[in-house]
Amino acid sequence: MKQIRCAVLGLGRLGYWHAENLATKIRGARLLTVIDPIAGRAEQVASELGIESYSIDPDDAFNNPDIDAVVIVTPTSTHAEMIKKAAAKGKQIFVEKPITQTLAEADEVIEAIRKNNVVCQVGFMRRFDPAYHEAKKRIAKGDIGQPIYFKGLSRDGNVPPASFIKHSGGIYLDISIHDYDIARYLMNADVVSVQATGHVLMHAFLSEYGDVDQALTTLQFSNGAAGDIETMRIAPYGYDIRGEIVGTEGVITIGSLREHNIQILNHQGSTYDIIPDFPSKFKDAYLLEMAHFIESLMNGTKPDCTEEDGKAALAIAIAATDSFKSGKLVQIQTVNA
Ligand SMILES: NC(=O)c1ccc[n+]([C@@H]2O[C@H](COP(=O)([O-])OP(=O)(O)OC[C@H]3O[C@@H](n4cnc5c(N)ncnc54)[C@H](O)[C@@H]3O)[C@@H](O)[C@H]2O)c1
Repeated sequence: MKQIRCAVLGLGRLGYWHAENLATKIRGARLLTVIDPIAGRAEQVASELGIESYSIDPDDAFNNPDIDAVVIVTPTSTHAEMIKKAAAKGKQIFVEKPITQTLAEADEVIEAIRKNNVVCQVGFMRRFDPAYHEAKKRIAKGDIGQPIYFKGLSRDGNVPPASFIKHSGGIYLDISIHDYDIARYLMNADVVSVQATGHVLMHAFLSEYGDVDQALTTLQFSNGAAGDIETMRIAPYGYDIRGEIVGTEGVITIGSLREHNIQILNHQGSTYDIIPDFPSKFKDAYLLEMAHFIESLMNGTKPDCTEEDGKAALAIAIAATDSFKSGKLVQIQTVNA
């Protein structure tokens, strides 16, 4: 394919960034249409980005023979239906994480993807973040020997509104899943069991949805390695994402709190800017993951983060949710069965 003609579905917190990247920055991509049911939203984004068409109805993208690929950035609860519709119409698919909300849905979408012979990339953008990407290369080179422990930390300062929480699947599916995926990727092993805890420490409304604002997951990997993941929606200082891989011959630490590599010294003391939010932290990763999707379609190759990876991370997230509810260690094979 010479040019990949795309539609972006869902223009909320993240959809706008994917639309902007496709419209203005990615070689080989042409953003044909943007779609969102909120009155005026798609029209506004189309006008800002110079897109020729817009709609409130995703079916307009699925039924348009000129569209090669759809980028699904709608609420998580809609992903399964969107993927099945897109695959049935032969559209190539980029879908935000988590791929679906249940493993039964994940199996259905994987079947639809295979049956219709389309490509699917899941939006685990940390794999494309320059620091995480370099860590993967250094581990493969043997710089820290054999990885034996993974530590992940994701603290987000902004609790999304109840309207988002309601459709998010809960903290383990919504946020910890990024760490579950990057843990599998960096440790080069599957997770076989998890034990999770969670608490509501600040935002009481989360209890209404069975959700928490602080969570901890401990992991056991198939190769004997172990790990832990801390997840919070209540960092009172910014957006804090870090990782650590301990190996038999060294350690790699990933991530920093600094937005700019400067430090200011004055009468108040010493300060530096802290990363404020996810678009600031991962803007390069969002661009690189979408460029990878378009390049994979142009070259006819399989993307690095597939529907199978999406299902594997989902299985860990569902096991962690089950463990949080039951207070017991949960084997992933049991969840997968
Ligand atoms: N990879 C990441 O770092 C990251 C970050 C944020 C969100 N996400 C994921 O992206 C997805 C969207 O999250 P968000 O934070 O942008 O949510 P959001 O609620 O801010 O935006 C969702 C948008 O989708 C629109 N929408 C709802 N139903 C639709 C439909 N049927 N067709 C088209 N549009 C529809 C809504 O009107 C809204 O504008 C979620 O699955 C979330 O997990 C991923």
